[in-house]
Amino acid sequence: MSTKSGSMGDRIAMHNANTLKLGVFGANCSSSRTATCVPERWSASWEDCLKLAQMADDAGIDFMLPIGRWRGYGGSTDFHGTTLETITWACGLLGATKRITVFGTVHAPLFHPLVAAKQMVTADCIGNGRFGLNIVAGWNEGEFEMFGVEQREHDERYEFAEEWLQVIKRAWSETEAEDFAFDGRWFKLKNIRAKPKPVGGARPLIMNAGSSGAGQRFALRNCDAFFTATGASRSSLDGIAARVNEVKAEAQTHGKDIDVYTIGQVICRPTQKEAEDYHRHANVDNADWGAVERMLALRKITRDNTSAADFEAKRVFFAANSIGGYPFVGTPDKVAEELAIVSRAGIRGIAFSFVNYNDELPYFRDEVLPRLARMGLRAGV
Ligand SMILES: Cc1cc2nc3c(=O)[nH]c(=O)nc-3n(C[C@H](O)[C@H](O)[C@H](O)COP(=O)(O)O)c2cc1C
Repeated sequence: MSTKSGSMGDRIAMHNANTLKLGVFGANCSSSRTATCVPERWSASWEDCLKLAQMADDAGIDFMLPIGRWRGYGGSTDFHGTTLETITWACGLLGATKRITVFGTVHAPLFHPLVAAKQMVTADCIGNGRFGLNIVAGWNEGEFEMFGVEQREHDERYEFAEEWLQVIKRAWSETEAEDFAFDGRWFKLKNIRAKPKPVGGARPLIMNAGSSGAGQRFALRNCDAFFTATGASRSSLDGIAARVNEVKAEAQTHGKDIDVYTIGQVICRPTQKEAEDYHRHANVDNADWGAVERMLALRKITRDNTSAADFEAKRVFFAANSIGGYPFVGTPDKVAEELAIVSRAGIRGIAFSFVNYNDELPYFRDEVLPRLARMGLRAGV
């Protein structure tokens, strides 16, 4: 295991041979991926993030994926109201860990690409080649208003992101001896100098999670990993398998092989009943309905355009199954078996969340990881 390797293959494999990659998703945001009022909900404080990163690193977890979020969703907890900025968060965590890959999540329209490129190179130096980039093209109007930045028409957001990424890739790769210019549709840049380059002559791993056709095409053309978590894939394992096949087939028409990832919420307990009871307790009985309804409104689902019964069903489904992705709820045997099903379906990895990572990761580490190792999906630590 090396964190110094310069090869892109090593970076794509996150510097290890695990067949199924496991990552922690959303730990930089308050309440993480569960819009809940339970008092043990995730704080996202720096102390808790640091403790989690070091525990995950020691447990052999492969990556941490933060959420780029600038404004909370309201509700009684102000869901995602307190968030740590992701590149600076990654720098701190990379400096305090040894082998885990840490992503930064960057909204392309909000950062000049040369500023972003240098911030990311700095993170990559701190982590000795363990930094990864998640690009967000933009979807949440409220966040953009706050910056005074107008959202482009949907598909054009991805055209812009593609050009933005071209600037970054060139800043990371152009020979150090000469300045270069970039003459694009949005960026007209002269005498560009960008040193140092990312560690070892490679570049950070790049991922995207667009759910639209344009988002998927962008990922297939420009990225190493594609995260999928749309409709069916949030509710069923079959849905996840179907999505992987669809994405891989489209990638092949471009002559590309892309790694497909998904997201999920893990609630693992010694008995099935305990796990299911806690899932209902945290996600539904104590849901922060104000925040859930605000997120549904962003998806154009409101009490005004939906019948009362339908709205109730939708908000419960969204709270229980959707915000955090597919719910892996059950005993260690059940969670491990479901993760294995997802892996056999062709998923390269899963970014998962817990209600409280530091309370729940130890049980997952002690009970689920050894089962996955015995199934041949992961190396033992
Ligand atoms: C794993 C994953 C991570 C994401 N991270 C963020 C994020 O950090 N910030 C954000 O605003 N959107 C995030 N998104 C939203 C997507 O980037 C994308 O905007 C959304 O799925 C809508 O897709 P579209 O742009 O193709 O319409 C994420 C989605 C997924 C599935």
